[in-house]
Amino acid sequence: MNIIVTGGAGFIGSNFIYYMLNKYPDYRIICVDCLTYAGNLSTLKEALKNPKFRFCKVDIRDRKAIYNLFEEEHPDMVVNFAAESHVDRSIENPKVFLDTSINGTAVMMDACRKYGIKRYHQVSTDEVYGDLPLDRPDLFFTEETPLYTSSPYSSSKAGADLLVLSYHRTYGLPVTISRCSNNYGPYHFPEKLIPLMIANALADKPLPVYGKGENVRDWLYVEDHCNAIDLIIHNGRVGEVYNIGGHNEMKNIDIVKTICKELGKSEKLITYVTDRKGHDMRYAIDPTKIHNELGWLPKTKFTEGIKKTIQWYLDNREWWETIISGEYQKYYEKMYGNR
Ligand code: NAD
Ligand code: DAU
Repeated sequence: MNIIVTGGAGFIGSNFIYYMLNKYPDYRIICVDCLTYAGNLSTLKEALKNPKFRFCKVDIRDRKAIYNLFEEEHPDMVVNFAAESHVDRSIENPKVFLDTSINGTAVMMDACRKYGIKRYHQVSTDEVYGDLPLDRPDLFFTEETPLYTSSPYSSSKAGADLLVLSYHRTYGLPVTISRCSNNYGPYHFPEKLIPLMIANALADKPLPVYGKGENVRDWLYVEDHCNAIDLIIHNGRVGEVYNIGGHNEMKNIDIVKTICKELGKSEKLITYVTDRKGHDMRYAIDPTKIHNELGWLPKTKFTEGIKKTIQWYLDNREWWETIISGEYQKYYEKMYGNR
């Protein structure tokens, strides 16, 4: 089996590559990533030693380069992780989000049509459903929940999802889509809540909580997401959408307090800052379909996963300290300087 994994130098894509190389030693994995600010080749250092792995620095919007790669590699499957992924950046600059999610996804699927494919899998997000109110804990996102997006990021992802479903209906492309809740774990880029709070707490810097910190996210350890995608690409039904989430809803403020406690840092570091524009209140996934059809259940409990994650950031300081010492400084100043 030859599998093209796009966005594999980012957080979830790299975890997926390691998961697949480990679980299927006979598979060939080809990573396509143009290395935006969020892509990091050092993340794939160990994979690069594996003869079954190939890295290609290619932009998924580059039709010619993608077609050439398909001619060389004859992939059986494509798993498309490549996207701009940070909501705050999408509020500052929506264009690149649309370019990558819509045009990039179209290029990847056109290549699949032209050269043939067993499965095209689109990695999507629960954010395409918009948000849920805090006072209705009985409500969850199912695969039938209407798409109702809040940010340019989530709109770009919802647009891509619709395009994927249209390629299935119009051209019969064998697609699947997964919509997952918030991931955490190793190689999470330090602009996101959990790694940002770990890095700041370790440096005794303020911990910037948006609004009142009452927004709720449904956290899933990244390996459980990889396992779900593995099940979907092998056993999922073509043309179907699968929600992925572990019924692990937590308020942002409780996540930050947990990190303070685990690191032995004072909660006095917590600083409430201006809220995110259009900030979604609550995400909560109903994973009944993937559980019933594919037997998926999350394996890692949050109490265990957050400990493992914090330990990973303590053991891999060089990885994230290199990131936050570069261009990231300017980003941080712009986003948090006068907040
Ligand atoms: P990330 O930002 O860490 O990584 C994205 C990767 O895609 C980077 O390596 C980047 O270089 C690459 N990339 C971006 N544009 C590209 C392009 N035009 N061509 C080639 N490569 C490109 O993101 P992530 O958090 O790992 O998310 C991966 C996917 O999973 C995204 O599609 C995201 O929408 C989705 N998702 C993320 C989460 C989450 O909690 N992080 C949850 C659900 C779904
Ligand atoms: O739900 C899945 C989505 O989860 C993915 O599709 C996105 O790619 C991923 O980035 C993530 O989106 P969120 O916006 O939920 O993640 P983020 O880590 O940016 O923020 C989590 C929550 O924490 C959110 O309510 C905003 C808040 N927050 C975030 C940052 C960076 C803060 O309070 N302070 C911060 O500094």
